[in-house]
Formats: sequence, C-alpha cells, structure tokens
Amino acid sequence: MDATEKRTNKKERAKERREKRHQEISRLRTVPYSDHDRWWSADTIAVVTGANRGIGFEIARQLAFHGLTVVLTSRDTTAGEEVTKTLQEEGLKVVFHQLDILNHESIDSFYAWVNKKYGGIDILVNNAGISHNTGFDNSVEFAEKVINTNYVGTKNMIKASLPLMKPSAEGARIVNVSSRLGRLNGRRNRIGDVGLREKLEDVELLSEDLIDGTMNKFLEEVKDGSWISGGWPQNNTDYSLSKLAVNGYTRVMGRILSERGDGGKIYISCCCPGWVKTAMTGWAGQTSPEEGADTAVWLALIRDQSVNGKFFAERREINF
Ligand SMILES: NC(=O)c1ccc[n+]([C@@H]2O[C@H](COP(=O)([O-])OP(=O)(O)OC[C@H]3O[C@@H](n4cnc5c(N)ncnc54)[C@H](OP(=O)(O)O)[C@@H]3O)[C@@H](O)[C@H]2O)c1
Repeated sequence: MDATEKRTNKKERAKERREKRHQEISRLRTVPYSDHDRWWSADTIAVVTGANRGIGFEIARQLAFHGLTVVLTSRDTTAGEEVTKTLQEEGLKVVFHQLDILNHESIDSFYAWVNKKYGGIDILVNNAGISHNTGFDNSVEFAEKVINTNYVGTKNMIKASLPLMKPSAEGARIVNVSSRLGRLNGRRNRIGDVGLREKLEDVELLSEDLIDGTMNKFLEEVKDGSWISGGWPQNNTDYSLSKLAVNGYTRVMGRILSERGDGGKIYISCCCPGWVKTAMTGWAGQTSPEEGADTAVWLALIRDQSVNGKFFAERREINF
C-alpha cells in the first residue's frame, strides 16, 4: 500500500468513527432523563449567552425542553425577543434579557436584573463567540476583537457570575462552548514553542497571568506584523488562540473552584460542538446545531460533576 492509499484509508476510518459517534449521539439524545437523573426543576435558572441563533439558540431550547427556566440572552434585543417568542409559543419557560459580553455595563446590568428576578443562577452556558475567518482564510485583522469576545468576554461573564451562583446540593454549573481548534497538541494546529506549550499544559503551573501573557504577546506581534513567523497555530490563528485561552481558563477555574465546600460547589467544564452548520462556518460543517448543542446541554445537566475542569466533545472527555 503506498502513502496515498494509507492516507485515504486513514481518512475513511476517521469518517467511519465520526459517523458511528454521530449515530450514538442521536440515540443518546432520544433517551429521556430518569427521575433519579433530574436534579433540576422549573425553578432552576440557566443562562445562555449568544442565544439568538445557531448553537446558543439550540442550547437554550434544549435546556428549556428539559424543564428548566432559561434566560436567553443576546446583544441584539430585537433578535433575542423574536426567538424567545418562538420558544414561548412552544410552551417553553424562556425569558429574554439583553447581554453583550464585550460590554461591562451590559454584564453588570444583566446580573443585577437576574439577581433581582431570580435570586441568582444555577447554570451559565458561555456560548457567545465570533470568528472573522471561514474556510482557509487566515486574517488577523480582527484578532483583538476575537480574543476579547471569545476569551476576555467569557472570563468576565464567569467572574461576575460567581457571587450569584446559587448554593445547592448538586452544585452550580458553568459550561464554556470552546473548540478543538484551541487544543494544545493538535497535530496540524498548535503553538510551535514547546516550552510555552509545556507550561500551558501543566495544570498546576497554569494561571490566568500565563494565559493573558500569551494572548498579549500574540496581539503585540499582530500589531508589529511579526505574528506570521511567531510559531502560533496555523489555522484560524486568532480564533484558535482565543479558544486555547478559554480551555486554559476552564482548567484554572476548575482547580480554584474545586476548593469550595459542599453546598457552595460550582463545576466548570468546556466542550467542542464539532464542525457545525451555522453562520459562523458559513453553514458548512458536518453537524446540525441540534447535535452541536448536545454536549453543552449534557454537561449542564449531568449529575456526576467529575467533569469539573475537563474538555469534552460528543459526550466524551478529550485532551486539552
Ligand atoms: N459552528 C462551529 O462549527 C463551531 C465550532 C466550534 C466552536 N463553536 C463555538 O460555538 C459558539 C456558537 O457559535 P455558532 O456556530 O452558533 O455561531 P453563530 O451562529 O455565529 O452564533 C454566535 C452567537 O454569539 C453571539 N455573539 C457574538 N458576539 C457577542 C457579544 N459580544 N455578546 C453577546 N453575544 C455575542 C452572536 O450574536 P449576533 O447574532 O448579535 O452576532 C450569536 O448569537 C461560539 O462560541 C463558537 O466559537 C462553533
């Protein structure tokens, strides 16, 4: 067998594995949660960011379908109100509130509102995100905005949510919708500097400062034009780094939050939805938004929160 045949076989095997996993997820999605699994009720409050469309909308819909009260948020009020109405018409408990995760005032006024209305939240799904590249484009023109939205915005949402997380026996949950593009050891898409990669990989050494420093270094190189030879991920560079930062921050917070006592537990995890047919991918991709939402919903609802500080795709743990 020559090298081309070997590559083709490998690709076909990967495709078969992917299809099997998709079938398994479709089957799992039809299995209802048992009474024992259902720790939540209609008084359980789940907040979803960037939920006016795509994966976020589906996460909101599925959580509401399972019987929680969902606060559907979006930065555009008209778009958010419209989709909320469609879910309410299906009989789901969904409420809208404006939220732009890039805007501190919007974050503060959102949390003040949610605290007054519900006395806190049980689940936060950080789904809002942007990418300015599709296909093989790799412009860094909007790198600062991409990192600010996907990483800094998500981080700000998490920090401000902690005092509002309701104490419960089951624990509150934070789920970050991230991407496999942010993996540290992706075969074709990773940071070239082995020393930096090793530091980012060691959960005991990993810190917010190290993650912020890495993002700042990249953004400085974007400004002076040297990023291209800086050994950064080659595919969707700014987006990949923003998600690498989200993954790293999930691990840092997983470590910090694991020290909280019973009754005040907060669990945090992150996931990749797969390559999903949404506006972000120009509706390319292999996965529907319904399936893409599945792992985030599963993480938000799973009783066994040994998922804390870990990374998932298709309901399975994957490497950072
Ligand atoms: N699609 C994929 O293949 C894929 C793969 C891996 C990871 N993801 C991740 O999945 C998440 C959802 O993406 P999607 O595919 O559903 O993309 P999408 O259809 O483009 O949806 C992105 C959502 O984020 C919102 N958003 C952007 N900036 C925001 C801000 N500053 N404040 C609040 N909301 C903001 C958008 O609002 P507007 O409508 O106002 O723009 C939109 O609702 C993202 O985090 C993305 O990185 C997607």
